[in-house]
This record gives sequence, C-alpha cells and structure tokens, in this order.
Amino acid sequence: MVQLTINGKKIKAAKGETILKAARDNGIHIPTLCSNDAVEPYGSCRLCVVEITSGAMTSIETSCTYPVAEGMDVSTDSPAVMKARKAVLELLLARCPNVKIIKELAAEYGIEKPGDHLFMENEYCILCGLCVRGCHEIVQAGAISYSGNGKNKKVEAPFGEEAESCIGCGSCAFVCPTGIIKVRDVAKATENMPGGEVEIGTERVIDNWNRNLKMQTCKISGNPIAPEYMLKRFQQTMLLSPQFFNISMGRREPLTVDEDLCVGCGSCLEECPVGAMRLIVNDKNEIRNNIMSNHCCGCQTCTIYCVRSAIKVPAMA
Ligand code: FES
Repeated sequence: MVQLTINGKKIKAAKGETILKAARDNGIHIPTLCSNDAVEPYGSCRLCVVEITSGAMTSIETSCTYPVAEGMDVSTDSPAVMKARKAVLELLLARCPNVKIIKELAAEYGIEKPGDHLFMENEYCILCGLCVRGCHEIVQAGAISYSGNGKNKKVEAPFGEEAESCIGCGSCAFVCPTGIIKVRDVAKATENMPGGEVEIGTERVIDNWNRNLKMQTCKISGNPIAPEYMLKRFQQTMLLSPQFFNISMGRREPLTVDEDLCVGCGSCLEECPVGAMRLIVNDKNEIRNNIMSNHCCGCQTCTIYCVRSAIKVPAMA
C-alpha cells in the first residue's frame, strides 16, 4: 500500500492502481469519458486530468492512466486542472456540439457555446476509442478500428465496408459515452435473392459497422434470442449446454438435485455460469449440492459436469 493525499485528504491505495481508482474508492469525483473498468485505460479524452505534486515537481496528468505513488499530492480541482479540463471540453464541444453528455459537461464548466476552431456540426463520435478497445479486449473480435488522420479520423469497419468479424454483441454501443452507436433488432428483415425479395425473419442491425446478422430464435417460444453468429462463436469457446444457446432464459425451468445420487463433490459449482450452486449439509449430516432456484437460469450446464447424473432437468412443457 502507498499513502498519498487527494484534495488534502490522506488516503491509502494499492501500489500500481490508478489515481482515478484511488479517488473513486474514497468518494472523490473525477469526470471521465473514455474510462471503463472493463477495458485497459488509454487516456484519450483527457477529461480526467489532475495536478500532481511529487517532491519539487508539479505536472498535469490523466488520472485514469497515472499510478499512485508514496507521498504524492494530488489535486482534482486546482485552477490549473480546471483550466485544462475547460480547454478539453471546449474542443469536444466544437467537435460534437449536439452530444448531450458533452453539452452537460461543458455547461458544468461554464462553457456556453463551442469555439469556431475545429467546429463540426454533425459529429457525434468523440474518438474516445472505448468501442474499439471493448471490441478488441473484451469481445476479441477486432471488428472495428480507427482510420484517417486529424479532422478525418474516425472509427469504422475495415475499409468502411461490412465488419465481417463483428458478432453483433452490441458491446460497442453499450460502452459508447455519446450513444452514437445504435443496435437495432428488426422483426421482419428481408434479403434480395435472385427470385426477388424474401423475408428472413429477425435480424440485428448495426449500421455504424454495416453489419446485419440473422437472429437465433428460442426453440420453445420462437422469439429471437441473439445473433446466430455470436452464439456459434460462444458455443465454440465455452463448454455450456445447448440449452444455453437455443432456449431463451425466460423459457428455461430451474433444475433439481437427486440427493440420493449427489455425493457433494462440488464439480458443478465452478462451472455454473450464474453461480446458482452451493453445498449444504442435509438432515443426515451429508454434504449435498443445492440449486438456488431463484438464481438458476436453467441452462443445464451443470448436467454436463455432474459425474453422477444427479441433476434433474424438468420436462419441457
Ligand atoms: S478518462 Fe482519463 S483520459 Fe479519458
């Protein structure tokens, strides 16, 4: 652990963690746009800047990338910090004058209107790169990337064409701070075939990456679950029951355990994707598996791992 000061408050933080995390853990607010705990920090938006004094040195740094150090003195709202943050917001507002979060932050810092320099009327992407990092680091699809330079820099699919490795998970839209990435599920999608237009059922559409993906439907209800391509990819990489991929969660029933067969080995515990398993001691003082029915998603993955076939699947209606 290291000891440091943030805004005059003495705090302790784990060695190697960022100033942003240390501040948040101690209830100190620092504004951010490009930071998300799920991906590695990159420091692209520069909104999280803080002033650091270490010995005789003072500098302005991005708190989402800068690690804490012993004796460090940090200010999150000094005049130098406010000036730097204001400059960042002026540029962001000039680039994306219609983005709600940018307008709100700008107003908070007293910026009333965007400057003339670099003004872009219809831009909604702040180039924070969260979507790119999420797609590469979390999903490992690598479907999108930056292209161009300067004012022409943008995030897009390779060569601006269809992002063929996009699995349609929508992580990019989920992490985007401006909401410019849209994921649409279209109920009656059509496709042009030699004989004319045919209806192909439900489709997930991500216009930003020119991507259209056919949806897999629930084997019981017939309702769309998720893109077929995405489920196929997960099926190849995870040892989960087929139920997990072809029956929607709401249509699966919780499982039960046959206590006479269960030996309480716990092999199902680690593999349950929703943590619905626990071991209990029953009336006969035996250790047995117990499924928490309010947690169980009915995917039947535990049945793959139960060496005694003690987990019982309810009959499908
Ligand atoms: S949040 Fe730190 S640079 Fe964007």
